[in-house]
Amino acid sequence: MLAIIGGSSLNELPHVKITRRQVVRTPYGEPSCGLTFGDINGLDVVFLARHGYAHTLQPHEINYRANIWALAEQKVSRIISVGSVGGIRKDLKPGTLVVPDQLIDYTYGRANTFFEGSLQPVRHVDFTDPYTPDARSCILLAARRQGIPVVDGGTYACTQGPRLETAAEIRRLEGDGADMVGMTGMPEAVLARELGVPYATICLVGNYAAGKGENKHHIDIGAATQILDDHMQQVLSILGAICADEFCALSGSAAAVAE
Ligand code: HPA
Repeated sequence: MLAIIGGSSLNELPHVKITRRQVVRTPYGEPSCGLTFGDINGLDVVFLARHGYAHTLQPHEINYRANIWALAEQKVSRIISVGSVGGIRKDLKPGTLVVPDQLIDYTYGRANTFFEGSLQPVRHVDFTDPYTPDARSCILLAARRQGIPVVDGGTYACTQGPRLETAAEIRRLEGDGADMVGMTGMPEAVLARELGVPYATICLVGNYAAGKGENKHHIDIGAATQILDDHMQQVLSILGAICADEFCALSGSAAAVAE
């Protein structure tokens, strides 16, 4: 079963054949919403809306641990998450899709590990490549097969939000090597790693980051939301193709997934 985490502008999956919904509780509290189980192109999927179905949870209010725990408990094969970002690099203009391969975490005060408590031995996870290469490849391959342009790689800076950044903060992130900026990529990615669940993310650029592109003094948030709404169909097409590929792979029809 594939897990999909939807972000802003993706609070439900329109093309999923829903089989059931389930409210789950975890040792870390309740996830953002109940889990929706269903089928896309033959593949079993479980969907979770990161900000809740009514889009009411701010990035710092999300219970990332409960979300990842709930999905891992379903024994999912991988998590594909969807998020919106601001483009820092010039080619990451509004409407662009990008699959980052690196991240920098600027968040604070978020519960960001499962490894805590006096009864647990000290543990560390390798996080050199924060996104699972195999999960990234399946997004990129599915996009290619759909003929949807996607930028392969880039560094995601995760800020605390919910406010957008200042122009000076964006210049600093750029100096640090960041290509795009979002508010929800962490600790989601590391929590998946701690539980050993392959994880990758598709980012949709809603706006140029503060001070970039046409945003010298102002970001038009309404325009950014419109861009996300207008381009989400491409993300849905990619998710559908990922499911079709995985279904074919599972059912052994390798010819169907060949290029
Ligand atoms: N900054 C942070 N997160 C975002 C942005 C941004 O400019 N756009 C979409 N998510």
